[in-house]
Amino acid sequence: MTPRIALAGPERLDELGPLWLQLHHHHARVSRVQPFVDDETSWTARRRSYVETFDGGGFALVAEDHRGLVGYAMVRIHEGPDDSWALADRYGEVWTLVVHERARGCGVGSALLDAVDAELEARGITDLLIGVMEGNDDARRLYERRGLVPGWRQLYRVAAASR
Ligand SMILES: CC(C)(COP(=O)(O)OP(=O)(O)OC[C@H]1O[C@@H](n2cnc3c(N)ncnc32)[C@H](O)[C@@H]1OP(=O)(O)O)[C@@H](O)C(=O)NCCC(=O)NCCS
Repeated sequence: MTPRIALAGPERLDELGPLWLQLHHHHARVSRVQPFVDDETSWTARRRSYVETFDGGGFALVAEDHRGLVGYAMVRIHEGPDDSWALADRYGEVWTLVVHERARGCGVGSALLDAVDAELEARGITDLLIGVMEGNDDARRLYERRGLVPGWRQLYRVAAASR
């Protein structure tokens, strides 16, 4: 069954936790930077960022089928100008994209990204950025295939790693 994609408001935030944790565990598997925070710490921080996302005019899109939530995209809206690139006065950022482990590779992520583009276009926004963790090569391939170009690499020193 093809999932239905719809906008979701902050009242549905708590439903996103389990899928966020699937992404958190995926990140922990692919990243060279270790260690990762525990699930509770991770979701608490991420949930807070989602409240800020909604407060800042961002939006969430959820994909659902008869078994429930299949994936979601959380999108932030930024005010330009940027200090480096000639981004428009307002631009979007895919802050989270995740598809349920049981449904990956079937087009749901692409459909969510299409819906993100459509929602941004309806708001008069065309410029977009998506952060992707180093090591998450499969996701990066998907974004590059859609025309996005890598622009920034962040390096980390995590003191807990040497304790
Ligand atoms: C990345 C993700 C959202 C893509 O959604 P999807 O529904 O699996 O993707 P689609 O079926 O629309 O497109 C397939 C493409 O997605 C990418 N992809 C990333 N992870 C994948 C996975 N586990 N299985 C299949 N495709 C994956 C690949 O580029 C793939 O194309 P390929 O033929 O070159 O391998 C999803 O796989 C996912 O949730 N992965 C784990 C979490 C994650 O990495 N999120 C992105 C954080 S930046």
